[in-house]
Amino acid sequence: MEKLIIRGRKKLVGRVHVSGAKNAAVAVIPAALLTEETCVIDNLPYIDDVLVLSEILRQMGAQVVFEPGKRRMIINAANIGDYRAEFDIVRRMRASYYLLGALLGRFGRAEISFPGGCEIGARPIDQHVKGFEALGARLSIGHGLIKAKADKLIGSEIYLDVVSVGATINIMLAAVKAEGTTTIVNAAKEPHVVDVANFLNCMGANIKGAGTDTIKIKGVDKLYGCEYSIIPDQIEAGTFMIASAATQGDVRIEGVIPKHLEAVSAKLLEMGMEVEEGDDYVRVRGTGRPRKANVKTLPYPGFPTDLQQPISVLLSVAEGTSIITENVWEARYRHIEEIRRMGAIIKVEDRVAIIEGVDCLTGAPVVATDLRAGAALVIAGLMADGVTEITNVKHIDRGYERLEQKLVSLGADIERMDTEQRGTHLSVVGNQ
Ligand code: UD1
Repeated sequence: MEKLIIRGRKKLVGRVHVSGAKNAAVAVIPAALLTEETCVIDNLPYIDDVLVLSEILRQMGAQVVFEPGKRRMIINAANIGDYRAEFDIVRRMRASYYLLGALLGRFGRAEISFPGGCEIGARPIDQHVKGFEALGARLSIGHGLIKAKADKLIGSEIYLDVVSVGATINIMLAAVKAEGTTTIVNAAKEPHVVDVANFLNCMGANIKGAGTDTIKIKGVDKLYGCEYSIIPDQIEAGTFMIASAATQGDVRIEGVIPKHLEAVSAKLLEMGMEVEEGDDYVRVRGTGRPRKANVKTLPYPGFPTDLQQPISVLLSVAEGTSIITENVWEARYRHIEEIRRMGAIIKVEDRVAIIEGVDCLTGAPVVATDLRAGAALVIAGLMADGVTEITNVKHIDRGYERLEQKLVSLGADIERMDTEQRGTHLSVVGNQ
């Protein structure tokens, strides 16, 4: 059990480099199962979700070499020979549902343990199932397993009832080698959907329209190995943008695609912060107490739900009353109970949070209930007067690469304590 101890009220100043996108990585790695040839994936984040996935692929019989120094994974799945991934470890992450699409695409058959992941409300997979069935697969769920089987996968038109990133990607994975053309209508447009399509095209697939709401996939007979570098993590970048504003800091976030961050930039500008965009960086300067703002989360290019929790922390000290409407997930306010313990005044009614801005948060012991809640609490700790102790840090480690080290390099005072070992006090003077 590890915890983070944050002594707040230090301005973040300097430059920070963003890692590869977690949500692209967790789809691109299973996609490599679609070929018997070797895939080399660069710019992978060094996070628990990536390590868990590489272990799953290994347990399935694939050769996987992860070079953390180079952030590179080399995958050869020639020898997996089996359509099953029925391990406890699969249950540990939500995104292991991509194994279903990838194995179905490769073998016409898949059996996986039912995926787990962040507790952020009901996470149905009916749209994935609908897509696979439209391609000709039969699915059954029971005894903790999902099974899919098709005599032959045949392209089809699939209209998604909800805009789902997971279903869009999973259908692409299953359809790349199907006979004929598959059309996904009302597809998700997130940057990582485009990234996965680009990776599959690099392997020889024929996918057009990724990034729009209609994606066309012409089935091909064979996919090949390739070398691919995944996109920067827009959510990590957004987290640093908000953290800079929250500490009245001045941080240049580098290695990003500013276009992917437009919704966050616009919101921070509305709150009175300064945002400068370069070709591959954004610089955010906190200019004092934020102005109130209303935030509605939406699929891309709307404001990302994964930054709702971090921005709600910033709004908790805004001048006036702000309203957040969470349109994507049902139960994504579990962090609010925690920041209330730090002095925030927030009322939650169903999907709406009404935030009365207070002058300042005060440090307190809090619990990270999920990945982005954890990041939000780190920002709360950075802003707060006094000491904040965050437990359940494993959630943060699933999706952020060295979050506290990066923050410390910007001037934060954060210590990671292992209750069984001595703590490491991470604090530096100046910036990297
Ligand atoms: C992905 C991201 C997650 C982000 C989310 C929304 C990954 C690994 N995770 O999750 O960080 O918060 O997109 O941007 O990429 N839904 C259904 N039926 C389905 C599938 C989804 O009703 O079959 C609903 C969900 O309950 C949710 C909404 O659709 O309300 C969006 O979910 P989806 O886009 O599928 O999220 P994930 O792909 O799981």
